[in-house]
Amino acid sequence: MQIRQVSKQFGVGTSAVRALDAIDLAIMPQDFLCVVGPSGCGKSTLLNILAGFETPSTGTVLLDGQPVSGPGAERGVVFQQGALFNWMSVVDNVAFGPLARGVSSRTARQTAMEHVEMVGLTGFEDRYPYELSGGMQQRVGIARALANNPEVLLMDEPFAALDQQTRELLQEELKRIWRRSGKTVLWITHSIDEALFLATHILVMTARPGRIKASFRSSFHEDLDPLVTTSAAFSEAKRTIVSLLRDESLAAQRQEGVRRG
Ligand SMILES: Nc1ncnc2c1ncn2[C@@H]1O[C@H](COP(=O)(O)OP(=O)(O)OP(=O)(O)O)[C@@H](O)[C@H]1O
Ligand SMILES: [Mg+2]
Repeated sequence: MQIRQVSKQFGVGTSAVRALDAIDLAIMPQDFLCVVGPSGCGKSTLLNILAGFETPSTGTVLLDGQPVSGPGAERGVVFQQGALFNWMSVVDNVAFGPLARGVSSRTARQTAMEHVEMVGLTGFEDRYPYELSGGMQQRVGIARALANNPEVLLMDEPFAALDQQTRELLQEELKRIWRRSGKTVLWITHSIDEALFLATHILVMTARPGRIKASFRSSFHEDLDPLVTTSAAFSEAKRTIVSLLRDESLAAQRQEGVRRG
């Protein structure tokens, strides 16, 4: 994915909000790119532009050389929560995409069952979303996105609503799934630990209008040991990102203060 000089402004005149400014970014196949940045800096806006839910004010987004002009099955999206069909069982939720693409119901079900297994929910395929915990629902969301076999997975704080223990276990599971599937992932998070644990690349954004403040390669994703997060190297990397982010979060807070005052 190529993101070239993308900016986004919402509204016009004095009430205009500049959400993003001059974003240049290349996401290569099998990258796991984590985006961190202060609240309101435009992370979701960027993801929505890549997903094709929003159009950029300036600049272009290309996927395999083709301009992105709307949503498409080659880009799977997972939200923070609540995007499942409540009236459908787990397996039907996951089979929805393949069915919509026109595969036979038998094949769709088979694909769905494989993905239900991949996220560790075998035995729950006939349950409904309300019968599942938040963590299980997020797994269904991930299975549903993967079942469409997208080239790129766009994930907006998919684990944000989970308790810390569930979250850490799902991060480990996700790491295994990502290694097996070889997907390209863009992952928004407020958790620096999560970013360092999962990412091949980390992007730190500035306060609004969101620009790229820093980008890093990270190699902790190679380590399957969950205790890698307690290593000295991990702490060192974390310190760097925390201090970059802190300045931007303070700037974001000041912006909020100005807006409120
Ligand atoms: N549809 C919209 N109309 C008007 N303003 C919007 C719209 N969507 C987002 N904004 C504004 O754009 C800015 C960036 O919002 P965005 O949701 O992308 O931030 P974020 O980085 O995802 O924040 P958070 O970490 O809190 O989720 C905010 O000031 C927000 O109020
Ligand atoms: Mg957001």
